[in-house]
Amino acid sequence: MSESHGASIELENLTKRYPGHAEPSVDDVTMEIKAGETVVLVGPSGCGKSTTLKMINRLIEPSGGRIRIGGEDVTGIDPVRLRRKVGYAIQSSGLFPHMTVAQNIALVPRMTGWPKARIRDRVEEMLGLVGLDPGEFRHRHPRQLSGGQQQRVGVARALAADPPVLLMDEPFGAVDPITREHLQDELLRLQRELHKTIVFVTHDFDEAIRLGDRIAVLRERSRIVQFDTPEAILTSPADDFVSGFVGAGAALKRLHLSRVRDVEITGCPTVTVDDPLQTVFNRLRTCGGDEILLLDRRGRPCKWLRRGDLMRARGSLARAGTPVGGTVTLDATLRDALEAVLTDATGRVAVTGRRGEYTGVVDMETLLKSVHELLEADRLEALGAQHRPEEARAAQPHAEQEDPAGKATA
Ligand SMILES: Nc1ncnc2c1ncn2[C@@H]1O[C@H](COP(=O)(O)OP(=O)(O)OP(=O)(O)O)[C@@H](O)[C@H]1O
Ligand SMILES: [Mg+2]
Repeated sequence: MSESHGASIELENLTKRYPGHAEPSVDDVTMEIKAGETVVLVGPSGCGKSTTLKMINRLIEPSGGRIRIGGEDVTGIDPVRLRRKVGYAIQSSGLFPHMTVAQNIALVPRMTGWPKARIRDRVEEMLGLVGLDPGEFRHRHPRQLSGGQQQRVGVARALAADPPVLLMDEPFGAVDPITREHLQDELLRLQRELHKTIVFVTHDFDEAIRLGDRIAVLRERSRIVQFDTPEAILTSPADDFVSGFVGAGAALKRLHLSRVRDVEITGCPTVTVDDPLQTVFNRLRTCGGDEILLLDRRGRPCKWLRRGDLMRARGSLARAGTPVGGTVTLDATLRDALEAVLTDATGRVAVTGRRGEYTGVVDMETLLKSVHELLEADRLEALGAQHRPEEARAAQPHAEQEDPAGKATA
């Protein structure tokens, strides 16, 4: 089975009525998720996110409507067969406590009848993929893992049979914020390699922004209020409900969506630890700015040197200057860059390449300018969309009233 890449998911008039409830818990939901896309469902507690998600792999049977995966109508097929195509990871990690890590990950491949050797290889590969050392973790039981490690195993298990579709229900809900950010980064990295179709449920809007190619903001009964890119939702929320959900600081949240590589990276004068002192002196005198950056032998940023530093340190490069506090990579978000600039005494941050080598600097002025430009571009695009009603409607399938078939997609 090497389906690997994602498959599209279409929900058509999907409805769930639980027995004894007057109102349906999920009411006539129609949405189209493209192959390889990460769509995040956000909405308040009890609005029907989990119910919607579980109908996609028929852990909950729909009361009405259809589900198509990769064009195939799966509403009537054997749920066991369906679940092999659909990985599923949940909040509490959902690992079986009496099974080892390896047995948990091997679950679906075993059900599917993979040969033993292939399963063993796959378990190793999956553990590596989620950053756990197989030798150390394979034989442990879930209770011998931290919360974050359990979630990683949960994700490894969901991916083990290489399903084209991955459903994740608040998979990082139970860990502390720092571990959560780490797991989010990991998921983004995985997704860049794997291109699964992911439907991810959360009630944390910041998580939605970080992870989603598109976000569906849901209200009660899973009604879609807005279904669009994070940029569009941040800059032109459909109504007060969405604004409320976006919360304060939309402009700051926008910083999560752009990377250092997208902004103008400037240079600064540099010297290396092997340069003769005279060169360093000359560079300091002639560079025009206040500071030069000292690089180590491998070209990595090491210290900021100012005029006078060398005098005070009596000509010793080892003693002179201020150590570089932090650096950011080209893949870092502007939010990370801003954090680094704000906390660095020099008001700027060195940017590094893959091997930590110096590639340039970003300063406060550049960041501010970039953010203004980004927000302005978003605003113009939102305005433009309003003036092109066809496209605006296509981009926002919440306009169900105007679209009786409810088939609008971007
Ligand atoms: N098995 C069930 N039987 C009856 N009602 C249910 C059942 N499961 C869920 N519900 C109801 O359906 C509605 C939607 O529940 P669901 O679990 O989908 O919400 P959710 O958006 O995932 O909420 P949360 O963010 O708290 O996880 C709720 O009102 C809930 O009480
Ligand atoms: Mg839920």
